[in-house]
Amino acid sequence: MAALRSAEVTETREAAASPLAIRGMTVFYDQKPAVFSVDATFRRGAMTAIVGPNGAGKSTLLKAALGLVKPLSGSASVFGAPLDRMRHRVAYVPQRASVDWDFPARVSDVVAMGLYGELGLLGRFTGAHKARVMSCLARVGMEEFASRQIGQLSGGQQQRVFLARALAQDADLYLLDEPFAGVDAATERAIIRVLKSLRDEGKTVIAVHHDLTTVPDYFDDVLILNVRKIAEGPVKEAFTDEALNTAYGGRLAMAGIDPVPVTA
Ligand SMILES: Nc1ncnc2c1ncn2[C@@H]1O[C@H](COP(=O)(O)OP(=O)(O)OP(=O)(O)O)[C@@H](O)[C@H]1O
Ligand SMILES: [Mg+2]
Repeated sequence: MAALRSAEVTETREAAASPLAIRGMTVFYDQKPAVFSVDATFRRGAMTAIVGPNGAGKSTLLKAALGLVKPLSGSASVFGAPLDRMRHRVAYVPQRASVDWDFPARVSDVVAMGLYGELGLLGRFTGAHKARVMSCLARVGMEEFASRQIGQLSGGQQQRVFLARALAQDADLYLLDEPFAGVDAATERAIIRVLKSLRDEGKTVIAVHHDLTTVPDYFDDVLILNVRKIAEGPVKEAFTDEALNTAYGGRLAMAGIDPVPVTA
């Protein structure tokens, strides 16, 4: 009875907890801060963009939250618990340039990697699993490429396959590092459609994003970063010229946004 109650308490706590809460995160590389003292709380069932200039620490923040780089200080909790207990609920699609796909693997094998957490090392890959792999590929419009070697796909096609692998995981929190980098307009539309449908199912999507012009259209919330957190919250409130100028300095024109003069 007591055990049951404690399980209920855990469930309630999880239901109330943020999918990802980052506290005091500081990461240094070679004695230089890449991320400094960042607190961020991401809203469940929302799509959040992480924006900021090149080198702002966006990828590093995600990696630190996922335990892929060791922070100097700070911590992250996933659905109110340490990541280790919640890893199965998190899917991560890394920044494309960081993945070397020269090794031989078929597209369907890459997507099936998303099932490993569930199957374990010795789990049997059944017809149902195969069907799930194919349906995830279909969701990103790539089912006809299932038998192709991953290295023989274009960059945009690879990006769709990585998304299919994340979908196969059936996670509750999706972290994507620049999912639209180098993809054409049709692929971008396909990816955003999938991400919005995940959000509409109540899942949480966090994506590093470079195109400031599409932030209001694509995302509910935004985290503006330049080593430190500049702003955080609903796009309507946090995505201001002032915050963007602080983050980007005089480089806004390059990002396709009307620059507002930066005051010193
Ligand atoms: N493994 C590493 N070793 C040393 N320095 C690193 C390492 N990874 C990143 N950095 C540095 O840390 C800073 C933040 O890098 P990060 O990749 O997090 O930026 P980003 O905001 O994702 O940039 P981009 O928009 O170019 O992807 C940069 O100055 C980068 O050169
Ligand atoms: Mg990056």
